[in-house]
Amino acid sequence: MSPSFRTIWTTPQKDVEIIDQRLLPHEFVVVTLKTYKDADLAIRNMTVRGAPLIGATAAYGIFLAVKEMINHGHDDSFLDEAFSTLRASRPTAVNLFWALDRMRAALDNATDFLEAAWQEAEQIVEADIETCRLIGVHGLPLIEAIAAQKKGEPVHILTHCNAGMLGCIQWGTITSPIYQAVQKGIKVHVWVDETRPRNQGANLTAYELTRHGVEHTLIVDNTGGHLMQHNMVDIVIVGTDRTTRNGDVANKIGTYLKALAAKDNNIPFYVALPSTTLDMTIKDGLTEIPIEQREQNEVKYVIGKSATGKIEPVLICPETTPAANYGFDVTPARLVTGLITERGVCAASEAGILSLFPEYKD
Ligand code: MRU
Repeated sequence: MSPSFRTIWTTPQKDVEIIDQRLLPHEFVVVTLKTYKDADLAIRNMTVRGAPLIGATAAYGIFLAVKEMINHGHDDSFLDEAFSTLRASRPTAVNLFWALDRMRAALDNATDFLEAAWQEAEQIVEADIETCRLIGVHGLPLIEAIAAQKKGEPVHILTHCNAGMLGCIQWGTITSPIYQAVQKGIKVHVWVDETRPRNQGANLTAYELTRHGVEHTLIVDNTGGHLMQHNMVDIVIVGTDRTTRNGDVANKIGTYLKALAAKDNNIPFYVALPSTTLDMTIKDGLTEIPIEQREQNEVKYVIGKSATGKIEPVLICPETTPAANYGFDVTPARLVTGLITERGVCAASEAGILSLFPEYKD
C-alpha cells in the first residue's frame, strides 16, 4: 500500500496547496498559498510541519516570491527579504536551510527565474518522495527480522510525534518501513505517543495510520517506559529534525526520554531520516543545534473537538501559571542503535554516516 495522498501539491495554475494540519484529524481542509508570506506563516503557525515538509514549503515559498517579484515589478531586495523571512520561520529542522540554499543556488545560475524556481521546488518534492520510499526499503528488513522471531505475533513499534507522510510529502520516514511491512502482510502494531504539547502523535500519526489501515494504540507520553519494561515494545523508530556529523539526533521534545528507556530495556532505538536532515557542519548536538522555544499557550491549552463539534482550545492550568515550551530535545548518538537512510542503515556516528555518504568526507 502506498500512501494515498500528498501533503503539498501545485494546481495547473501553479498555485501551491497544502493541508491545514492544525485541523486534523477532525477536518481535512486544503489551503492555497498565494504569496511567500502565506508560506512563511504556514510554517510558523504549523499549518504545515515536519522537517521535510517545512523544507518543501519554503522552496515553494521562494517560487511564489519570484512570481510576486515579476508580477509587481519588485527589485532583487524583495527576493532577499523572502529568503531571510523564510530562514527565520523555524530554527531546528535543517531541511528548511537546505531547501533555501538549493533555491538560492538554482536562482543564482538562472536566466529564467520563474522557471528555475519552479523546477527546483518540484525536484525537491519529487526527490523527497523517492527518498522516503527508499527509507522504507532499507527499514523494512529490521521489521522483518523481528517479525521472524515473533512467529506471527505483531511487531510492536513505538514512535513519537509525527514523522509520517504528514511530516514529509508522501511516504514519511518512520512510516515508510511500516507501510511497506503492512503491504507485505507483516503484522505490525504501533504505539503512538500523543506528543504534547501540540499532540502531533494523537492528531496526525493516529490519523494517517487510521487512513492506511495500520493497527495502532494511542498512549500518553509517559507510557513508553512502562511498556518497554513489560516487553510490549519490540523497536522504537522516530524521526529527526537535525542529525549531526557525530550522529546526535534532534527530534520532538520527549524523544530523549524514550531513548533512555529503550537503552535501559535493551530495545533497539532507530532514527529514520532523509540525508537532507543531516547537518554535517556541526558535531555536538547538545551545544550546536538550536532548540526552538514556542509560545506558552501551546502548553497551557489543549486543542480538540468539543461535544458541540467545534474545534477549540481548552485551558488546562491556572491562567497565570507560566509555561516553558521547548520544541525539541537532543538524543546523544550513544543511545541510537542506527540511522535508517535512503542509502541504507548505518551507525549513528561520523564513520557510520560517512560509510553511506562519502561525499561528506573532509
Ligand atoms: O514541530 P514539528 O511537528 O515540526 O516536529 C516534527 C518532528 O519532530 C518530526 O519527528 C521530524 O520533523 C521528522 S518528520 C519526518
